[in-house]
Amino acid sequence: MKGIVLAGGSGSRLQPVTRAVSKQLLPVYDKPMIYYPISVLMLAGIRDIMIITTPTDMPAFERLLGDGSEWGLRFTYAEQTHPNGLAEAFLLGADHVGDDSVALVLGDNIFHGQGFSSLLCRAVDEVESGSGAILFGYPVRDPGRYGVGETDAAGRLVSIEEKPMRPKSSRAITGLYLYDNDVLALARQLTPSARGELEITDLNRAYIRRGTARVIDLDRGYAWLDTGTHDSLVEASQYVQLLEHRQGVRFACIEEIAMLQGWLSPEHALGQVHANSGYGDYVIEVATRAGRAAQVAPDPVPERERRDRVGPVRGA
Ligand code: DAU
Repeated sequence: MKGIVLAGGSGSRLQPVTRAVSKQLLPVYDKPMIYYPISVLMLAGIRDIMIITTPTDMPAFERLLGDGSEWGLRFTYAEQTHPNGLAEAFLLGADHVGDDSVALVLGDNIFHGQGFSSLLCRAVDEVESGSGAILFGYPVRDPGRYGVGETDAAGRLVSIEEKPMRPKSSRAITGLYLYDNDVLALARQLTPSARGELEITDLNRAYIRRGTARVIDLDRGYAWLDTGTHDSLVEASQYVQLLEHRQGVRFACIEEIAMLQGWLSPEHALGQVHANSGYGDYVIEVATRAGRAAQVAPDPVPERERRDRVGPVRGA
């Protein structure tokens, strides 16, 4: 499965903070916002990732992330010249996706929870071995701000509405979408909505018509955080700070996830990390520990076991 992080848009609700800096590069406590959605794809086992952003912001993303080899990943970039809608990601990313399935994650979405990695890997397996779409639902107090989905008893999506005045449920559809390869053809058939965008909700309706859209509900053991306003951005930072201080671990630490996935050796991590920041010191600590553990137990960790380790211990 290929990955796409959509990190364009105008960031209008965060002006003037976003006047000179892309929203998805703003810090959420100790790391740039985009680390969080990237870590979600990594936890799902995805290494080949396209970053879509504005022509103005692209150089900054390239400066931050490069070609991804630093983490055993592959990053490519595409420009979205106007915010023409989330579904445009599948037109801009068509060559990147090729014949594969794809996971789209919005660059401002933050997920965290126990066992998230295992849940993601099962969902990826399901889309790769079958067909259709898998979306993730989350109960919220204010569903009218999001896409809202209704499901049948089997978890099949039966209706979806974008920012409804009278939501049919409290289940928001989050900004993480897994699709089979048909998404490319379905996206080509979309026409702009009344607000002039290629709507992800229309794309999801196409899967509903086929009867192949499914929702996995993230229950109250998960956090799906908003970063859309000044207040919610601060709250997201405080959430991360609180958990990291309390537990002594960092989440969405892409070096750590890359090491746990076996894509980055501890030696490499140590060779490239910038000390002198809390984040850098943490990477050094984890890499040193992993290096020692590798000396004691040189056998590679089997894939399935590694996923389980990443999931329950860290989440994203
Ligand atoms: O966060 C989940 C929600 O994301 C879903 O529940 C909604 O169904 C979905 O439409 C979307 O709603 P938003 O109101 O959050 O969409 P927004 O236009 O704010 O865009 C979300 C992010 O994607 C934002 O960081 C900007 C970026 N974006 C947006 C558009 C329209 C792009 O990169 N390109 C675009 O063309």
